[in-house]
Amino acid sequence: MLCKHFGVCGGCAIQDVPYEEQLGLKRDLVHKQAYKHKVDLPEFEVEPSPRVFFYRNKVELTFSRGEGGEVFLGFHQRGQNRRVIDLQECLLFSERLPELLDVLRDFAREHSLIPYDKYSHKGFLRYVVVKRTRKEEYLLALVTSSQGQVLGEELARRFSDLDWVDTLYWVVHDGWGDAVGYDRVVHLRGAGYLVEEILGMRFVVGLRGFFQVNPWSTEILYAWVKDYVSNNVQGKVLDLYAGSGGIGLVLAKAGFEVLGIEMDDGAVGEAKQNLLLNGIKGYSMLKGNVRALLGLNPNWRGQFDCVIIDPPRSGMPPKVRYRVAKLGARDLVYISCNPLTFMADLKDLLSVYELVDFKAVDMFPHTPHVEVVAFLRRR
Ligand SMILES: C[S@@+](CC[C@H](N)C(=O)[O-])C[C@H]1O[C@@H](n2cnc3c(N)ncnc32)[C@H](O)[C@@H]1O
Repeated sequence: MLCKHFGVCGGCAIQDVPYEEQLGLKRDLVHKQAYKHKVDLPEFEVEPSPRVFFYRNKVELTFSRGEGGEVFLGFHQRGQNRRVIDLQECLLFSERLPELLDVLRDFAREHSLIPYDKYSHKGFLRYVVVKRTRKEEYLLALVTSSQGQVLGEELARRFSDLDWVDTLYWVVHDGWGDAVGYDRVVHLRGAGYLVEEILGMRFVVGLRGFFQVNPWSTEILYAWVKDYVSNNVQGKVLDLYAGSGGIGLVLAKAGFEVLGIEMDDGAVGEAKQNLLLNGIKGYSMLKGNVRALLGLNPNWRGQFDCVIIDPPRSGMPPKVRYRVAKLGARDLVYISCNPLTFMADLKDLLSVYELVDFKAVDMFPHTPHVEVVAFLRRR
């Protein structure tokens, strides 16, 4: 199976490599970083993703104008920030995507809606965000500028045959940056969010919160962390970069008292929904920047037995590494989707902690990325 856009689309770079070999490439990448930073890793293999195609639960598509003025909708071309490919299929996301694309293109054409131009800031149609669960329920948001009007009822009518599209939004965003934003959100139909099940718990997949992109591999990652913490930790857990609760809520459900730190409004809102959905006690969340909150709370020193750290691709800033070490927790679990920043951070933490275990799981088949996790014990 090879996507018809492979080679042109910026979405996946190694789809032409047999899957077993992809796992080997990812392991080599991790080894290379470990060697570079002189980190001794135990023997490991990259755990395969239980699903190799159609595993992603989220895509963000961009509107653009073709040479003849036609409406293009898709991902950016590889290495070409100005060009968007007119997507026909995506083997990473969903077999149902083409149906959604047809509806959206027809809607744009019949209402003569003009794609937004990110250089002149003129035009209307900007992005489409689509999310889905493993039960094949969908949430779709059409993101436009304010230079026009979406006929909400008409858009909802277009999707009436696709009853698996539970939730529809129209989002208005006028920011000049090339990223989805949420100046105004109009809820057109459905519950407003989807629910994904992971390890028997229910998690909101909403318009704005954070959820790992591959629920199949997420289940593996969360189980590893839950097992390690359950077998090694007694007492309180601090969950830094907590997203919409995710791993912290799994630990709270297992009986731990957990404090999550997260700065994104949407993710914090969904974490609250997740608490209610799962009837969880013993979990609280502080909204704010990890670095600032660690600095503002010196009384946290000695309070936590375990710290979970799951930062964005950029890793932990040096001040965060320093402040985490100062917390004095016996155990650390450091999760990362970027072995490059991970290994540099790990090297630093190893002056105070020793590596007890290391694991890797493929969260992103057909791309060069890999999810890694280190389990550390204070020396
Ligand atoms: C990889 S995700 C965390 C996923 C989460 N642990 C889970 O299990 O789903 C990283 C999160 O860090 C948040 N974040 C990024 N920089 C931050 C900062 N400086 N302070 C607090 N949160 C931050 C992002 O909004 C994002 O939700």
